[in-house]
Amino acid sequence: MFIIDDRAVHDIDRHPGIAACPRRRPTTVADVRKRSAAFVTHEGVRYALAFQPRATDVFIATYPKSGTTWMQQIVHGLRTEGSMAFAEITEVVPWVELAFDMCVDLRSPQGALPRAFKSHLNWNLIPKGGRYIYVVRDPKDVLVSYYRFYEGWRFEPGSISISTFARDLFMKPGAVSWYWSHLASWWEHRYAPNVLVLSYEEMKDDLRDTVRTVAQFIGCPWDDALLDTIVHQSSIEFMLAHREKFDDHLVRQARDAACDLPPGGTSAKVRNGRVGDSRLELPRDISEELDAIWRRTIGSDFGHRSFDSLRAEIASKSRSSLFHA
Ligand code: PPS
Repeated sequence: MFIIDDRAVHDIDRHPGIAACPRRRPTTVADVRKRSAAFVTHEGVRYALAFQPRATDVFIATYPKSGTTWMQQIVHGLRTEGSMAFAEITEVVPWVELAFDMCVDLRSPQGALPRAFKSHLNWNLIPKGGRYIYVVRDPKDVLVSYYRFYEGWRFEPGSISISTFARDLFMKPGAVSWYWSHLASWWEHRYAPNVLVLSYEEMKDDLRDTVRTVAQFIGCPWDDALLDTIVHQSSIEFMLAHREKFDDHLVRQARDAACDLPPGGTSAKVRNGRVGDSRLELPRDISEELDAIWRRTIGSDFGHRSFDSLRAEIASKSRSSLFHA
């Protein structure tokens, strides 16, 4: 136990470097894993799994970095005619797995209907009985987005290369949150009437059509004026201009100390929102390893040899309304 007495203060005076040296963020993947393990607690997971949704509840259920925050903004905008009266989007669209540790009662009314929630749980774990919007994104762009998101928050900038991050974290099999098993779990249910599958890339291609599809799916009356508002407010430009409402600061306030992360990290959810950044950022060998994992998982299980092929199925099905008839 530390007792601050005169002698200790005197020691610090003799070693000013000690007082000036703040706790650092991790600089190795092992340390990222160790400290991140405290982010979602066992109690938090138990609480999430016990939640009993109403049939009208909407879960924005995505793999991380796939457009979650973007979809939170669309759904919340549609149900409130574009209200921006929140400090951070998690305040109005709570995160199921973190609710317990953020002292949020998932059963509470949300001031607007339908109730909406964010989750990164796979299909097997997510509380059943509600409606689900699953957004899928090219894993290569997901990886780059993840890396940039963690850099400066979960690890010291420049300390871990993107190749190490890819091999030792993103591609490591076995995790509950492995991209490909997460996708497979949701893809199995793509025809269920309470599941709407969209792709990030389609959202980029035609945001207005996306907003209309989501409005229909969540049962929200819409007209051209509402669509105009929501398309405007879910544009990358608008969300960047209001970045403090999408920067996870409530999450950091609640969880940084538990994860032994120093204050002041950056965790902006809205970056550049581009499709295909990975072509510039990923080394070729990593890109090829990602292709190989895709072929032996999604390719072998569902017959889609590439992400583009899966994306084409989403586009053709959503055009023929098979996903949400
Ligand atoms: S998280 O942490 O899992 O909730 O992250 P998530 O929100 O799923 O994904 C973050 C990426 O989504 C991009 N984003 C957008 N793209 C286009 N248009 C809009 N309006 C938008 N809002 C967020 C965000 O920039 C992240 O992608 P990258 O590639 O890092 O830019």
